[in-house]
Amino acid sequence: MIGLIRHSPRIQIGLFLINYTMPYKYEELGLSNTKAMFDKALDEGFAVPGYNFNNMEQLQAIVTACAETGSPVILQVSKGARTYANSTMLTYMAQGAVKMVREELKSDIPIALHLDHGGNFEICKACIDSGFSSVMFDGSSLPYEENIKVTQKVVEYAHARGVSVEAELGVLAGIEDEVQAEKSTYTDPDQVVDFVTRTGCDSLAISIGTSHGAYKFKVDRLEDVPPLRIDILKDIRQKLGRKYPIVLHGSSSVLQEYVKIINENGGNLEKAFGVREDQIREATKHGVAKVNIDSDGRLVMTAMIRKILKEQPKVFDPRKYLGPARDELIKMMKRKNAEVLGCAGAYIRG
Ligand code: G3H
Ligand code: 13P
Ligand code: ZN
Repeated sequence: MIGLIRHSPRIQIGLFLINYTMPYKYEELGLSNTKAMFDKALDEGFAVPGYNFNNMEQLQAIVTACAETGSPVILQVSKGARTYANSTMLTYMAQGAVKMVREELKSDIPIALHLDHGGNFEICKACIDSGFSSVMFDGSSLPYEENIKVTQKVVEYAHARGVSVEAELGVLAGIEDEVQAEKSTYTDPDQVVDFVTRTGCDSLAISIGTSHGAYKFKVDRLEDVPPLRIDILKDIRQKLGRKYPIVLHGSSSVLQEYVKIINENGGNLEKAFGVREDQIREATKHGVAKVNIDSDGRLVMTAMIRKILKEQPKVFDPRKYLGPARDELIKMMKRKNAEVLGCAGAYIRG
């Protein structure tokens, strides 16, 4: 600002326009792409969490949990999150989160800002230009060759700017705001090598039995949840013949303790289970380097907010229910990092 005052008004306007129309560079925001964190994850047998955020409390919880457990983290933004929170706002929120981690939490964990389920080249480009260090192009619903074509285009644009690209082969079932499919189609291991080689994507999301949302498996007991197709995962890994980061979407466990709190406090969620946590842990031993979790966080926040508002009907200060919801989210994510993903301690300096 002080520098600008010395210039003529016309130059000031010019500088202002340059500043606000130039693409952001993720390095300048303190973010990392996913290359080094995935290499480490594959070498050490853990997975990096891909946690979604839409608001400040979720973002604070994610970075606090990951800084306190010394875990790398991928901050995920969906198309719905961009609409809800505003894409410019999200970039600056991520920058603020990085500063909070470095300056207040005194942690040097790597932090990536990632577009989740990018549906076309344009949204991937927009995110890269607004400071994202990683994007997903989700062409899983497209014909194979079309998926390859668009993924290649995204990779070319992203790699010229040091940005990582996640792609997807196979279809996950489940319904959320912007992501939906009625039934899953497992990834065909025979297509994987061709797809990865021709597109040059940096990681690949596959379908081996996980699904999106809070209604994954409508069975009576957790023991009845079908196990993941680890055999397909192993086959894919063997065919790739090298360490390569595999991604699992739809990996929430639909934590029953929070479903219970929601339903005891005026909610009406149907009985359903999610992916078994021991299955996720098992997958991290066979090349899964990134695990996406969104629904479990939504359940945690909703449970705490419902409980507090029911127990304390006079409360009208949002901090009184959003604060405890954020604290519970931190607790849940710290446990996931330690017990499910195995990434806790990966970045604690010894
Ligand atoms: O897999 C999708 C994420 O959970 C984002 O969901 O589209 O409702 O933001 P959303
Ligand atoms: P869940 O709905 O299982 O949390 O999956 C989230 C996800 O895959 C985000 O891309
Ligand atoms: Zn997903």
